[in-house]
Amino acid sequence: MSLITHPNARELTKSVRATVLVFKDPRSQELLARIERLAPSEANTLIIGETGTGKELVARHIHNLSRRGREPFVAVNCGAFAETLVESELFGHEKGAFTGATTHKAGWFEAANGGTLFLDEIGDLPLNMQVKLLRVLQEREVVRLGSRTPIPINVRLVAATNVNLADAVVAGHFREDLFYRLHVATIRLPPLRERPGDILPLAEFFLEEHCQRLGYNRASLSLEAERKMLEHSWPGNIRELENAIHHALLVCRNQRVQPADLHLVDMRSSGIRQDEANHAPPAISGPVDLESALNALFEQNIPDLYEHIEETIFRAAYRYCHGNQLQTGRLLNISRNIVRARLEKIGELGKPALLDGQ
Ligand SMILES: Nc1ncnc2c1ncn2[C@@H]1O[C@H](COP(=O)(O)OP(=O)(O)O)[C@@H](O)[C@H]1O
Ligand SMILES: [Mg+2]
Repeated sequence: MSLITHPNARELTKSVRATVLVFKDPRSQELLARIERLAPSEANTLIIGETGTGKELVARHIHNLSRRGREPFVAVNCGAFAETLVESELFGHEKGAFTGATTHKAGWFEAANGGTLFLDEIGDLPLNMQVKLLRVLQEREVVRLGSRTPIPINVRLVAATNVNLADAVVAGHFREDLFYRLHVATIRLPPLRERPGDILPLAEFFLEEHCQRLGYNRASLSLEAERKMLEHSWPGNIRELENAIHHALLVCRNQRVQPADLHLVDMRSSGIRQDEANHAPPAISGPVDLESALNALFEQNIPDLYEHIEETIFRAAYRYCHGNQLQTGRLLNISRNIVRARLEKIGELGKPALLDGQ
C-alpha cells in the first residue's frame, strides 16, 4: 500500500533506471563535482529542480557515494499520500493505533535506518507533518503512532522539491524552521534547456539503453532529428527526453530517427495557444482518433460510461506524469486539489508505486 522505490524499480517501470549518469555539459560537470564533494558528508541535503531533471537519480548517487552506500535507500513521494496516511507511513504505527491498523508497522524512517531517506516533493508535506518531521530530525528518534516509546534512528535525509520553498515559506505553506534545517546543503539541478551540452549525449544513452531493452539493433539520430532536439525547450526535462527517444524508437524506420518520429510538445508555447483556443478549441488528435475510440465504447453499452472515461483520463494522466500530482494538474489544466481528490476517490493514491523517480 505504500510508495517506495523498490530496488527492482527497473522491472516495475518502463523507464530506464540509469546506472550511468550523463553529465556532459560544463554546468553539469561542475554540479557533479559539487555532488561528489557533498555526498560523503552526513549533511541533510535539499535537491531543487524542475520535474524530470534527475533529482531522484542524484539522491541515489549521493547515497551510493556516502558511507551509507550499502545500507537502505528509501524513496518516498510526500505528495502521493492522503493527508491522513502520511504520519503512519513516515513514522509507523502500532496495532490498533487507528481503525484498520490490524498489525503494527514500521514507517519509512525505520525502514531507512542506517541509510538514506529520500523525501520527494517535500513541499507537499502537510504543515502538521512538517512539525513532526522537524522534531524527528532534531531528536533523531521516531515515535510510532499509537506508541509512546521513541525509537532511535540514524538516517540521512535527502529531500527534493520542484517548487521554490522560500516562496512557500512566505506564502505560509512551508515552515521556516524546517526550511532552514533542510537548507544546509543544497543542490540545484538546472533544467535541461540550461545545459544543452547534455541533450545529445543523453539521447545517445537512452537510444542504446532502450534498443537493448527492446531487443532492437542499434539505432541512430538523423542530423535533422538532432537539430530538432537541440532546439526544443524540454519542459519535462530528462524524463521527457527519455520518453521522446522511447517513442521515436517504436515508430522510426530502418533504425534511424527522423524529426517526425520525435513527438515533442512545447508546453510553454501552448500557454499562448490556450488563449487563442478560447474561441475555437483545438481538435484533439493523436495516434488514436479519440472520436472513433469513443464510438467503439458507445457500442459496448458500458454502465457508468461517463464516469469510467473520466476516471481513465485521471489515471492515465497521473501515470503519464509519473505519479506527480502537480504535473497532472498542469497537464489537464485543472487544480491540483481536484486532481488529488479525484485520484483519492478512484483509489489511485497510496498504491504501490508505478512511480519512477517521483
Ligand atoms: N544525468 C542523468 N543521466 C542519465 N539519466 C538521467 C540523468 N538524470 C536523470 N536521468 C533519468 O531521467 C529520468 C528522470 O529522473 P528523476 O531522477 O526521476 O527526475 P526527478 O526526480 O527530478 O523528476 C529517470 O529515468 C532518470 O533515470
Ligand atoms: Mg522525482
